[in-house]
Amino acid sequence: MIINPSLLSCDFLNLEKSVKEAADSGAEMLHADVMDGVYVPNISFGFDIIGKIVSVCPVPVDVHMMTVAPWKYLDELKAAGAYSVTIHSDVGDVCARRDALSRIRTLGMRAAVALKPAFPAEAVADVIDLCDTVLVMTVEPGFGGQKFKEDMIPKMREVRRVAERAGVDISVQVDGGVNVNNIGLCAAAGVDNFVVGTAFFSAEDKKERYESLRAAAEKGASREARD
Ligand code: DX5
Ligand code: ZN
Repeated sequence: MIINPSLLSCDFLNLEKSVKEAADSGAEMLHADVMDGVYVPNISFGFDIIGKIVSVCPVPVDVHMMTVAPWKYLDELKAAGAYSVTIHSDVGDVCARRDALSRIRTLGMRAAVALKPAFPAEAVADVIDLCDTVLVMTVEPGFGGQKFKEDMIPKMREVRRVAERAGVDISVQVDGGVNVNNIGLCAAAGVDNFVVGTAFFSAEDKKERYESLRAAAEKGASREARD
C-alpha cells in the first residue's frame, strides 16, 4: 500500500522543504503532475523541475503525464530520475501508446496508463500487457482540489479484472479528491496506490495526516479481504 502525495498542492515557494516534509511523513512515493495546457487546460512543470525534485527526494517519484505527446519526453524523464511514468489512455493511437509504454519499460521505469472519468476500464485492454499500473482518475484531470467522483469506484475493481483476464498483475492507483473519508472506499475496491494532493498538503502536521490516511486505507483494505 502506497500513500503518494501530489506535489501540485505543495508550497512551490518552498519546494525542497515540501518534498522532504512529504517523504519524512512516511509517504512511500511522491506524485508529480506534468500538464501541457493542451491535453488539460492547465500548465504545471516539466522535467527540469522533476530533476530538482528527484535530487532531494528520498522516495521514488511518480510522473503523471497530462500531455498530448508524452512519448516526446521519455528520455528526459529518465534522465531526471523518474521512477514511473503514466500516460493517458486517449492520447495518440494504440501503436503510439504501446510504443511509449514499451519504451518507458526499456528505459527502466515503471509504465502506467490513466483513465479519465469518461473512459471505461475496457479502454486499457489493448495496452494492459505493457502496464505495471493503471490509474483510475476520480476527477477531470487538470486541477487539484476537486471533488472525488464516487461513481468511479466500480471501475477500480473492473481494471483489475481486465488485467486478470490478460494474465498480468498490476497495481491500481487512484488520483483526484482522495481524502481520509473516501480512501477506505478505494482500498476496499482494490486500490493499492493513493495519490493525495490537497488533503495531504493542507495538513499542518503531515505525519499525522499520512498516518490517518494510511489507517483509513488499511481499514478499507481489510473490508475488501472480508468481501
Ligand atoms: C489532477 C492531478 C492530481 C491532483 C490531485 O489532475 O492529476 O494529481 O494533484 O490533487 P487533489 O488530491 O487535490 O485532487
Ligand atoms: Zn496526478
